[in-house]
Amino acid sequence: MPEHVAVIMDGNGRWAKKRFLPRVAGHVKGVELVREMVRACLERGIGYLTLFAFSSENWRRPADEVSVLMQLFVKALQQEVKKLQENGVRLRVVGDLNRFDPGLQQLIADAEALTAGNTRLNLTIAANYGGRWDIMQAVNKMALAHPEKVGTWDESDLAPWLSMHFAPEPDLFIRTGGEERMSNFLLWQLAYAELYFTPTLWPDFDTSEFDKAIASYAQRERRFGRTSEQLVDSPNA
Ligand code: IPE
Ligand code: IPE
Ligand code: MG
Repeated sequence: MPEHVAVIMDGNGRWAKKRFLPRVAGHVKGVELVREMVRACLERGIGYLTLFAFSSENWRRPADEVSVLMQLFVKALQQEVKKLQENGVRLRVVGDLNRFDPGLQQLIADAEALTAGNTRLNLTIAANYGGRWDIMQAVNKMALAHPEKVGTWDESDLAPWLSMHFAPEPDLFIRTGGEERMSNFLLWQLAYAELYFTPTLWPDFDTSEFDKAIASYAQRERRFGRTSEQLVDSPNA
């Protein structure tokens, strides 16, 4: 089992289009699948689930679609937080939250505070998130914290400032919807993740599809630069 699964939930618009529905109908259905995915992670004992909900580039979409996505986000927070709390799920939202309206920012802060004591599943929503933004905001904070080390900063100096500092690096990365690209998701943290791409559209990505991704992950040999023989000789070295 992977400990940390990171997902680009893509294909909502195409799912709706295939059914002659407006794109937003795909987003509504997509929220249901998030619920199913959270349940599946709880059942499988997966400790971290990170979902890309809105990229820093998604502001470029038509204003009415952006507005519906924001409303869905608000509604989901209002409706689901209690259930997350009951199930021991800790919710975090990562990304540049300043761009969201103050009401939404408050909902996020409240949900994070309410669930802060939970440890069963760490659910992280990446919203107005960009991998390059994340690295740059971390670099700036690191520079302010340790100006004396300029020229000698290393990876461990940066790590605590990255938005996902609380989580181990993702083991399994999933992108639904057929596209095989990162779209500026967790660039730093995915350095050694196993990548899984599926043409299945996000609203169709049910538990059995998730299990296929996990099965594919279980087949992989994670060498982290070593040779296959080294792993057989001393698997934990
Ligand atoms: C992913 O589905 C959801 C968001 C980006 C918010 P899309 O809306 O990108 O769906 P497609 O890719 O157009 O089918
Ligand atoms: C990536 O999907 C972002 C999310 C799923 C939230 P997009 O559909 O926006 O990505 P591109 O534009 O196809 O790369
Ligand atoms: Mg898309």
